[in-house]
Amino acid sequence: PVIPVILAGGAGNRLWPLSRQEYPKQLIALLGERSLVQDTALRFADRSRFAAPLVVTSEAIRFTIADQLQAVDIAPLSLVLEPVGRGTAPAVAIAALLALEEHAEATIVVAPSDHAIRDVAALHAALDVAVAAARQGLLVTFSIPPSRPETGYGYIEHGTGVAGVDGAFRVASFVEKPDAERAAEMIAGGRHFWNSGMFIFGAAFFLAELERHAPEILEAAKASLAGRTADLDFLRLDAAAFGKSPSDSIDYAVMERTDRAATVPLRAGWSDVGAWSELWAISERDGDGNAMRGDVVVEDSRDCLVVSDRQLTTLVGVENLAVIVTEDAVLVSDLTKAQDVKKLVAKLKAAN
Ligand code: GDD
Ligand code: MG
Repeated sequence: PVIPVILAGGAGNRLWPLSRQEYPKQLIALLGERSLVQDTALRFADRSRFAAPLVVTSEAIRFTIADQLQAVDIAPLSLVLEPVGRGTAPAVAIAALLALEEHAEATIVVAPSDHAIRDVAALHAALDVAVAAARQGLLVTFSIPPSRPETGYGYIEHGTGVAGVDGAFRVASFVEKPDAERAAEMIAGGRHFWNSGMFIFGAAFFLAELERHAPEILEAAKASLAGRTADLDFLRLDAAAFGKSPSDSIDYAVMERTDRAATVPLRAGWSDVGAWSELWAISERDGDGNAMRGDVVVEDSRDCLVVSDRQLTTLVGVENLAVIVTEDAVLVSDLTKAQDVKKLVAKLKAAN
């Protein structure tokens, strides 16, 4: 079986003030009627292709996640609660161990819950190719044609084709979150793609690679599962054991180090809804390039993103701004500097 693993434990700091610690971006309907985590689960809802999903999330948002999944008729195989966030490597390790309990030959599809994907049929077609490559003992990613020297993504250099699997390539190198100079070089060179953040692999093979490259993470994952408790619909990990895990992402802990990676080019209208600038780019806009939601009126303004669910918000004579109005906080940001909202949130946290 192919088991979807939905990662929904992140904080979404760059989408402050809509995204909050107690109510992070994956729970919010940023793009339409449904939240990002609902959209993600629905991409893998076809039970003729995929088993029920393993959902890995944080203690803090468990009830909202459970309610949102139920609202779209998704019954998870398991809803795993992390006592603390230790990054995506431990979260995927837990999921792979659980998948193995289901089936010795389980293949998993790791799906972050912070993406928009326009063309789900194209995603499914690419997944078929990725699953075939994964069955050859490879850790498979999707590569996205890049459009700018983004420093918040991983970069994949394509190698030779995977024998017997049309449309899959070996990964010649993987660079997670390069600095600006390196990112610019890679974009100029034209041989690198972005990493989508989704991964496809045999659960057993991933765990073997994890043991090679980050054995302490595997050990902590095993120990925290050994001490698990079941509570209603939730699977709780042993907090002391999980807390001992090093904090790392799958990208740094495994993907940069492995020599057994492959990639499948994905053209499915993928975007990471990571910052206000990205939300603007994928939103519907008026003739002046303004994307607006809620009670908003603009005059002589261009290329702005305005979100105001609470009160009338108006702009005159401005360009390229994100204006986000919530009940208790307002953000005004240059859209080209939207990545720096993360720094603002760090400052707010330090002040608290
Ligand atoms: N359960 C759980 N626990 N989920 C987590 C945790 C955790 O500790 N940390 C993050 N997540 C979830 C987030 O909610 C998100 O859905 C997903 O895992 C990915 O984490 P991000 O923190 O958003 O990663 P990123 O965007 O910086 O980088 C990844 O995605 C990029 C594309 O969007 C990497 O894979 C990059 O290489 C990739 O380019
Ligand atoms: Mg992300």
